[in-house]
Amino acid sequence: MSGHEIVWITGASSGIGAATALAFVRRGAVVAVSARSAAALAALAAQAPDQLIPFPLDVTDAMAVAATVAAIERCHGPLDRVILNAGSHQPISADTFDSAVVRRLMEVNVMGAVHGLAAVLPRFLERGRGQIAVVASVAGYGGLPTAAAYGATKAALINMLAALRFDVAGRGPDLRLICPGFVRTPLTARNPFAMPFVMAPDRAAQRIIRGLTVGRAFEITFPRRFTWALKAVNLLPWKPYFWLVAKATGA
Ligand SMILES: NC(=O)c1ccc[n+]([C@@H]2O[C@H](COP(=O)([O-])OP(=O)(O)OC[C@H]3O[C@@H](n4cnc5c(N)ncnc54)[C@H](OP(=O)(O)O)[C@@H]3O)[C@@H](O)[C@H]2O)c1
Repeated sequence: MSGHEIVWITGASSGIGAATALAFVRRGAVVAVSARSAAALAALAAQAPDQLIPFPLDVTDAMAVAATVAAIERCHGPLDRVILNAGSHQPISADTFDSAVVRRLMEVNVMGAVHGLAAVLPRFLERGRGQIAVVASVAGYGGLPTAAAYGATKAALINMLAALRFDVAGRGPDLRLICPGFVRTPLTARNPFAMPFVMAPDRAAQRIIRGLTVGRAFEITFPRRFTWALKAVNLLPWKPYFWLVAKATGA
């Protein structure tokens, strides 16, 4: 399949990652798909066996991530795009605050993306090309009820990507931040509340692909009427911020 765009997506066994992988396949790309569940990746790959190539992986394992990037490039050539999307969520409150939960989410959401960045950035910087997108969340904009652990991991990613962008600017590689609002996936399926402006994964994938291939903005965020409102709320001083978020969420 040489001559085709080579994409690597982590967290591709379900939800946003799987939908984005399929959308890239429809554009003719060869997509290396990673997640822990080999069976789920195999089921996904069966939909386009020539273009979807499973590379099962636990992103918390730095050496496995580096070996996977090397294996993908050995088998399929230099990567054109990488979407570091693997993530996990577990609601937590002051009453259920647990360092093990926070550590697990930090390991998957933050260190999982860090391992991907560490494996890919040197290759892309050396070549002076390649796109890297990290999936954070609007939950990283500011503290939200039940998201003390999840939101902190996503805030770390937003900060890290913005910092790295200064170093990468003008050197060829294209660094992007993806901050979705609510998307209907296994990750959000257990949310006990009505999710405002919730999107289907296919629609989220379309927004991601348009942002990565046509758009130029550092941050890809959707649906904008929700995410931009959240950005505005995060500009408020703390007192009205707490009042407004508590009122909107019933916290
Ligand atoms: N859904 C939303 O509303 C929403 C909003 C904002 C941001 N996001 C972010 O979007 C990303 C995708 O989430 P999603 O909503 O599509 O949820 P999802 O369907 O649950 O997908 C999560 C993916 O991450 C993989 N994963 C989890 N732990 C992993 C690990 N240790 N190593 C490798 N892969 C791992 C899962 O596969 P395995 O379990 O097979 O490993 C799965 O493929 C996440 O980063 C999430 O935080 C989601």
